[in-house]
Amino acid sequence: MIRAMAARSAIAPQKIAKPALFALLAWPAAEWAWNYIGGELFSPWRTLLQDSGLWAMRFIVLGLAVTPLRIATGIGWIQTTRRMVGLFAAFYTALHVFAWCRQYGYDWGFLLGEIAARFYLLIGLAATLLMVPLAATSTASSMRALGGARWRSLHRLVFPAALLAWWHYLLSRGVPPREVYVHAGLLALLLAMRMIVAWRRPSAGAMVGARGDER
Ligand code: HEM
Repeated sequence: MIRAMAARSAIAPQKIAKPALFALLAWPAAEWAWNYIGGELFSPWRTLLQDSGLWAMRFIVLGLAVTPLRIATGIGWIQTTRRMVGLFAAFYTALHVFAWCRQYGYDWGFLLGEIAARFYLLIGLAATLLMVPLAATSTASSMRALGGARWRSLHRLVFPAALLAWWHYLLSRGVPPREVYVHAGLLALLLAMRMIVAWRRPSAGAMVGARGDER
């Protein structure tokens, strides 16, 4: 009886983990807003451009890690964090593009010329465009409207988007920082894991996918 009451009153771990994850994902943006309001940023738009790009890249990779983490740990609720991580990745990408437009004073002619002249910007744009339908159809109602199979096929766009974003990151710097290679290793590992799972358990993957919790 006491044990049953204790079990009922115990807080489910995701009730704490999900708000904590939200706070962690929002932290970089909150910190910039704080520093910006306090006038502490020497070059606000450049800082926002570089830092938001980095966090967008990190959260794209983190989003791809959710399903393998759920499979490796067997903790089902981990899967329910994927939409939050993906939407934060899209949010930081939007901030990144906004900072770029803002840095050059919304001079659209110049910005279009830059995209045409710099291959790494074209790749970044392609990655961003691939992420738009993913963010737009992230809700449960979109999943129902599209149907599980079509929704899953559409959401596989996250893989080319991640690879293009990484390529953009690699080319954006004359001398790529070490983190570029860390991301390369993580992406290779995560994509390999996805391929192994799909190859070994095609029917199990389809069953999980039918519940809408696996790409
Ligand atoms: C999924 C989409 C994108 C991701 C994940 C991304 C990520 C990144 C990353 C990680 C960097 C390096 C930041 C650093 O040096 O610390 C970067 C640099 C840059 N990105 Fe993106 N990017 C994306 C899309 C775009 C788009 C669409 C544009 C504009 C058309 C853009 C413009 C730039 C510019 C101008 C830089 C160089 C910043 C500098 O060093 O001054 N990015 N991006």
